[in-house]
Amino acid sequence: MKIISVYVLALVGVATTQNSDLVRIGNNRGGGHGIDSHTHRKPFIVPSTFIHAVEARNLLNHANQFVKFSELSNGTRAFGSKGHNATVQYIKGLLDKTNAYTTEYQTFPYLYSEGNAAFSANGTDYTTAWFTYGPAGDVTAPLQIVAGVGCELDDYPPEVSGKIALILRGTCAFGIKTALAGAAGAAGVIIYNNAEGSIGSGTLGEVSRPELGPYVPVGSLSGTDGASLAGVITSGTQVIGKLHVNAITDTRYSSNVIATTKAGDKTNLVVAGGHTDSVAAGPICNGINDDGSGTMGLLEVALLLAEYNVTSAVRFAFWTAEEFGLVGSTHYVASLGDTERQNIALYLNFDMIASPNAGYYILDGDGSAFNSSGPAGSDHIEWTFENFFYAHKLVSAPSAFTGRSDYGPFLTVGIPSGGLFTGSDGIMTAEQAQWWSGGVAGRAFDPCHHQACDGISNLNVPYWVWNTKAAAHTIASYALSLVGIPRGPRVAVREFALTKLSHDERRHHTCGEEIFEL
Ligand SMILES: *[C@@H]1O[C@H](CO)[C@@H](O)[C@H](O)[C@H]1NC(C)=O
Ligand SMILES: *[C@@H]1O[C@H](CO)[C@@H](O)[C@H](O)[C@H]1NC(C)=O
Ligand SMILES: *[C@@H]1O[C@H](CO)[C@@H](O)[C@H](O)[C@H]1NC(C)=O
Ligand SMILES: *[C@@H]1O[C@H](CO)[C@@H](O)[C@H](O)[C@H]1NC(C)=O
Ligand SMILES: *[C@@H]1O[C@H](CO)[C@@H](O)[C@H](O)[C@H]1NC(C)=O
Repeated sequence: MKIISVYVLALVGVATTQNSDLVRIGNNRGGGHGIDSHTHRKPFIVPSTFIHAVEARNLLNHANQFVKFSELSNGTRAFGSKGHNATVQYIKGLLDKTNAYTTEYQTFPYLYSEGNAAFSANGTDYTTAWFTYGPAGDVTAPLQIVAGVGCELDDYPPEVSGKIALILRGTCAFGIKTALAGAAGAAGVIIYNNAEGSIGSGTLGEVSRPELGPYVPVGSLSGTDGASLAGVITSGTQVIGKLHVNAITDTRYSSNVIATTKAGDKTNLVVAGGHTDSVAAGPICNGINDDGSGTMGLLEVALLLAEYNVTSAVRFAFWTAEEFGLVGSTHYVASLGDTERQNIALYLNFDMIASPNAGYYILDGDGSAFNSSGPAGSDHIEWTFENFFYAHKLVSAPSAFTGRSDYGPFLTVGIPSGGLFTGSDGIMTAEQAQWWSGGVAGRAFDPCHHQACDGISNLNVPYWVWNTKAAAHTIASYALSLVGIPRGPRVAVREFALTKLSHDERRHHTCGEEIFEL
């Protein structure tokens, strides 16, 4: 354990503390040795010196733990798995030991869905993909073309019964085509793209559509492959398709961890969050950058903050099931009472802050770059982050304020928001590679995004440390003063439009990616 000593400086504009002149600040992880929150006064936080306590080795210690947790469930920390549960227990356990937080689990059920597909036609294998909510099954049957794009029951001829319907993408949702084919008696469905390449990740959009018909096993094909098979069938030759879909869809319980400083005004809450779950795609996905990095950075800030007093209370939120559609944060925001919602001054999000080919992205809360701004105060949050990077001679750039991470539900109810991000599937340009040290032009910001290789070696430690310092500085600044953050009226929202999207649709981005529900 490292003990550092600092002098507490008189703070301008902050309520006076009974400063002892010399205060020992311990990064105490064992408990029982820290400054007791009930009997001892703590020094008020000083943002500029607070950031020095952020250290790479403490972050990496958390990362080693997270990898061990993922080993409990085949290398993933998907929500509700053993690896995910171990992650939330670790976070709550460490925060409880500080005695500086009131912590709670917010536990609730959500539908988990995971799968993959394989397809061959007359013995030749094709590249195919599973659709979220698609049922499991094995079908071997002739392929049958349908009329139009299969959006009307009339498009399905009687011959489709018992066969695999081959349907062109477009006009209506994948889920509508699949249910109508099921209603017409098809044994399976292949949807092929209306452009050359593959459809990518798609979803049936809804868990079921009983009003239209039953879902049947369904896979996708590229436009090239689908059109060529359709051509063969149209010429009168039979093609036997073999579709194999593995899928599980079940209800799982998992938890958000919510930790609020005992110190500080609870009617002026500074909320900061990141997500604890990884995707389940593939056999292994540690999710160490996405979003281990944001979660561990916040955990570290919370542990360090435990030694200080604050003006406004700080609430750290560790969200479950972000990868399934911002589920944990949406559940939290939707469950807020009117007073609690009004008491939240702002929300800060940290999702992917250590990408291997990183950029310093700040959510564009003022809308200056992407013409999409947040509630008043979001501009101030962006500037606070910008000033931090500028002061440390680091180049930052705005990232589109899309609402596609856990700040989305906060925006929906009118809470000013902001956050950091180091890039995911986007490709770094030559210009950006000049801005960001170590940057490689032409390569994705995170080539391991949502893949097995998102482990310890995927972490960009220097960027991680700087982003964690930026988080520490910003959280500490707002914990001292909320000047610049107006408290507009909050909207009571119970229905959140985004929640139906699958994890792949909800990829984090810098420059809008496509969403495939149609
Ligand atoms: C924090 O500061 C306030 C205002 O000065 C004081 O009432 C409170 O006791 C302090 N709390 C701690 C834990 O130091
Ligand atoms: C791990 O993978 C094996 C084989 O794919 C599977 O049978 C098992 O259910 C998985 N276990 C967990 C906890 O996901
Ligand atoms: C994970 O935690 C939830 C909530 O406490 C519990 O219901 C579930 O059974 C746990 N899952 C596993 C795999 O341990
Ligand atoms: C596919 O196999 C069927 C049944 O064996 C055969 O009738 C048909 O000609 C084959 N089609 C092609 C395109 O080879
Ligand atoms: C920015 O968005 C507003 C409102 O959506 C729109 O009216 C305006 O034309 C947009 N401006 C630009 C430059 O795209």
